[in-house]
Amino acid sequence: MTSQLHDDLTGARVLITGGAGFIGTALRTALTGAGARPALLDNLSAYGPTTLTLLDTGSNDPDLTVGDIGNEPLVRRLVADADYVVHAAAHSSVHGCTTDPQTAVRSNLAGTDIVVRAVAGARNVRRFVLLSTAQVYGHGVPHTPRTEHAGVFTEDQPLDPLNIYANSKLWAEGHTRQLLGMAERDFTVLRPFSVYGPGQVPKPGAASWVVAQFTMYAALGQQLLLNNGGRQVRDFIFRDDVADAIVRSLTAPAASGQTLNLGTGAQTSVREVAEHIRRHFPEAEIVDAPRVAQDPLGSCADTTRMRSVLNWSPSVRVEDGVDRYVQWVRTAPNAIPDWMRAETSTSRVIAWRAPAPM
Ligand SMILES: NC(=O)c1ccc[n+]([C@@H]2O[C@H](COP(=O)([O-])OP(=O)(O)OC[C@H]3O[C@@H](n4cnc5c(N)ncnc54)[C@H](O)[C@@H]3O)[C@@H](O)[C@H]2O)c1
Repeated sequence: MTSQLHDDLTGARVLITGGAGFIGTALRTALTGAGARPALLDNLSAYGPTTLTLLDTGSNDPDLTVGDIGNEPLVRRLVADADYVVHAAAHSSVHGCTTDPQTAVRSNLAGTDIVVRAVAGARNVRRFVLLSTAQVYGHGVPHTPRTEHAGVFTEDQPLDPLNIYANSKLWAEGHTRQLLGMAERDFTVLRPFSVYGPGQVPKPGAASWVVAQFTMYAALGQQLLLNNGGRQVRDFIFRDDVADAIVRSLTAPAASGQTLNLGTGAQTSVREVAEHIRRHFPEAEIVDAPRVAQDPLGSCADTTRMRSVLNWSPSVRVEDGVDRYVQWVRTAPNAIPDWMRAETSTSRVIAWRAPAPM
């Protein structure tokens, strides 16, 4: 990172909504390293105390305000004190949003509206950064059932959100552009691809976060289930790389008003991930399973704009990042949640068949 970027953030107060989460806590570390003063807002809904401790946070964290982004007076007070705002709070899994759309609407739409309107009215905020998702691309070609992978996903291509989570994020993108554009406030929209790395603890029922899932199931001696035969591809980007990219996006002049993919530009199939993890757990059994509804076939990011606007490239190759994740689970076996220990392969397949939203 150049000294220019560090200078811009020295002493700056950066509010991170969802700051006690997987990405938010890594971002806090990166910002502290850049001389900034992170402030976290989180309702602690995503994880229990064990995971929060592993993420170096919890209700006693001095940087953390425990609260909900739906609490407008609280959000306005914290935004009024911020030089930059990163909006990472979300009901953030496809499965979670599909099975509980009311919470998705409350957090990802109504909560985002409160944060964005607070920023629109706050002259002190130099830039707002929204964490959207690569899920907005869907299969890559709108309204077309696909059997083959699309080419790379480029920021300006038509979007095709396949699920409530992706749709809520697409709405958040539009809302950010419209409200902050009208208010003439600076903003950047980021679309992270599949983020993974130490600290990641899967959420119940979710079929995503495969690096974490496969490592933990392998450590437990359970089967690695490849839905759709593991043919889906993902662009896996390491947690620390994402945190670095977000830090850069706060001050990079060319990021103003931009939408940027955050990925590596490399495609890795889910099967390749399972096979790589099996090198660490040779006894792990890989088994094909049915396709999960609304699970995109996937692709990788076109990283041209990200590299040029942020003047930055990710540094961790997926093989190395997966190895680092496996080592982390070995040194922190309590990271494996109790609900995973209680599961069987059959119960996992049933959980994937998410019920229709109510
Ligand atoms: N992890 C990924 O692979 C990935 C990929 C693309 C985009 N994203 C996006 O990045 C952001 C951070 O993701 P993450 O992986 O750290 O998820 P996470 O679930 O670990 O973190 C989200 C945090 O937001 C908090 N939160 C949820 N609803 C809230 C509310 N109403 N008020 C206050 N806090 C609330 C949760 O408690 C959690 O700590 C999310 O917006 C997510 O959609 C993540």
